[in-house]
This record gives sequence, structure tokens and C-alpha cells, in this order.
Amino acid sequence: MPVQMNLVEKLVWNDLNLAPGIVSDYFTGMAFRVAELAIKMGIFEVLDSNIPLTALEVAEKIKAGPRGTYLMLEALDALKYVKKATNNSYTNTKLTSKWLVESSPHSIHRGVKLFKHLLFDRLESLEETIRNDHPADTIWEWLNKFPDGWEFFQEGMMFGAKLAADELLCHLKFPAKATPHRLLDVGGGHGIYSVKACLKHAHVEGTIFDWPNSVAIGKKIVGANQLLQKIHFIEGDFEKDTWPSGFDTVFLFSIIHGYLEEGNTTLFRKIYCSLNSEGRVVILDLMVDTPYGTFNKTIAKLMGLTLFNDVAGETHSFEHVKAWLQNAGFECIKKRKLLKSPYTMIVASKGKKGQS
Ligand SMILES: C[S@@+](CC[C@H](N)C(=O)[O-])C[C@H]1O[C@@H](n2cnc3c(N)ncnc32)[C@H](O)[C@@H]1O
Repeated sequence: MPVQMNLVEKLVWNDLNLAPGIVSDYFTGMAFRVAELAIKMGIFEVLDSNIPLTALEVAEKIKAGPRGTYLMLEALDALKYVKKATNNSYTNTKLTSKWLVESSPHSIHRGVKLFKHLLFDRLESLEETIRNDHPADTIWEWLNKFPDGWEFFQEGMMFGAKLAADELLCHLKFPAKATPHRLLDVGGGHGIYSVKACLKHAHVEGTIFDWPNSVAIGKKIVGANQLLQKIHFIEGDFEKDTWPSGFDTVFLFSIIHGYLEEGNTTLFRKIYCSLNSEGRVVILDLMVDTPYGTFNKTIAKLMGLTLFNDVAGETHSFEHVKAWLQNAGFECIKKRKLLKSPYTMIVASKGKKGQS
């Protein structure tokens, strides 16, 4: 949980400007660091059995010292990741049980490693990027510096996919027809969106078009879902290589933020050519003009800055994306803000009769 303030504290630190607000940013950063370390050290896993444990018992199980473990648990209690009972023992809170332990179907605990690296390593280059008005390297080059870089990157991406996929698929119809509905997932990486679409609709067949490093991870996830017969892979570069064609739907999720007008218009034209006559493209991304939510709006601006550092990209407005889609020939362009994630989905069809 973010560091919370009561009404008086909020007045003093935020609204009346009687104390410097940057201090609360500092403690929020510290809170993330503590929660990330708790995941890494296995604290939430040993508390996953619903049997409350004392600090000493937790310390023994995670093979750590009693005093440090006690102070960690106290901090985690203040942050509402664990709950302290009257007998000085601790359990996971519902928040932790749902999102941060391996046994939960919603778990994003592996994805948190990406956040840590982005926050504490990758952002070190932000000043240089801003001074030069261009990043010195891309996040892709940076990932290669870690032995498990591509794994933790895709685990982090899966966090967003797990939040967004079900809600997104609720809003998309895949009408049945004589032949399978062919779905192309451009930069589909981990494959979660294609997996969920194929599991939900038996007549959908997927193709994931991504670099070999990401395809290797996608294959594992598709295989674990017994879908290797229905989801195919193209190992390649979607900027440089020839595109396949004959698709009914193209997914373009968390890709347009890596490009500006020219790059995105080129991508949209390639997608247009790869679609059947009544096909559609579905875009999912953070939008800088997101219609509501203080949190959503702030995320879109912060990510715009960090995407500049990562891939010389930024977050875009719906109006811009719509104009680029129109330039590429798309029609019936609609947007929908998802509620359970910060993303907006945009659907555009190739012809007037196209599905949306
Ligand atoms: C930000 S991730 C998005 C992953 C997934 N679509 C999602 O929304 O969770 C970008 C993906 O695009 C892939 N990618 C980026 N540039 C690419 C390129 N030029 N050719 C092929 N794949 C690329 C990366 O490997 C990665 O899997």
C-alpha cells in the first residue's frame, strides 16, 4: 500500500504546503523497496499458510536475523502488507495474499523485480537522456546486461496483462465463422493476451510476432497452457522483417508508446496490409489524455518520461493516435478506458463493416 496520511497529515504535507511534499515521495520509494525485499526474502511465502507466525519463527524460516526480521515485519504491518495480531504474530493481509504470493492466480510477485530494476537502475540514466534529448541506450540493450533480463522484463509485462486481459476480452467479440478467427499479437512477448483469447474462444488461433528472446518466454507460457497447437510464433523484427497477412484481428499492446508519429503510422500501415478486408486492430496503451483518475493521469505522465529514457518513446493522446490510424486507412475508431488497469483500449476497423 502507498504510505497513507490521515486528514491532518494530508493538510500539513499536501494541501496547506506547511511541510515539503517530496518527503512523502521519499517514503513511498522506501515502502516499495521494503515490499520488494520482503518478496525477495520469501517473507510473504512463509506467511502464506494462514497460520500466524512470530518474528522469531519467520526469521528461522527465511534464515535471517531476529531483530532485522522483526523490524521488517513491523514496517510491513504499517504498510498493510502484513497484519499483526494481539499475540505478536503476523499474517499476510488480503492485499498480499491476492497479489504477492506465488500460490495466488493473480500473483504478480515475479513482476516486481522489473519495477525494482527500472526504479533503482534504469532511471540512473534519466539525467543524461534529458541532457542529450535522447537515451544513450534502449531498454532492450540494457536488458541484455542481466542474465535473466528478458525473463524479468516479461514477468513485469505480465503484471499489466493479468490486470487488463479479462476486462479487455469482455469488450471484444470474436464472431464465429467457417474458418478460425486469426489473431496476430504484434510484440505479444509473454503471450498472456493470446492465451486468454484462445482459451475464451475455441475458434481463435493466435500468432505472436516478436524477437527471439521474447518468443522463448512466450513459448513456455503458451506450452504451460497446452496451446502450442493453436498459438504460433514468428521470431522476427516487426520493424525490419516481412509481415504475415490474412488476419482478422491484430493486437498491438504496449507498443505504440515506443514510437512517435512516423513510426506508429508505418506500423499502422503494416497492420492494415496484414488484415483481412473486415479486420480490426486493437491497441492497448497508457493515454496521456486518459479521461479520469488522478492516479491514471499521473502514471501516464510519469511513464511518458520513463519511456523516453527507455525507448525514445512517450505516451500519446487519443486524438493523435486516431489521426495516425486514419492516415493509415482505418475507420470506426473507438476508445474505452479500462477500469482495472491504467490502460485505454482503441479499436479501429479496416472497412466500414469491420468488427469492433
Ligand atoms: C512493452 S512489451 C509489450 C508486451 C505485450 N504486448 C504486453 O502488452 O504485455 C514490448 C514487446 O515488443 C517486443 N518488441 C519490441 N520491439 C520489437 C521489434 N522491433 N520487433 C519485434 N518485437 C519487438 C518486445 O520483445 C516485447 O515483447
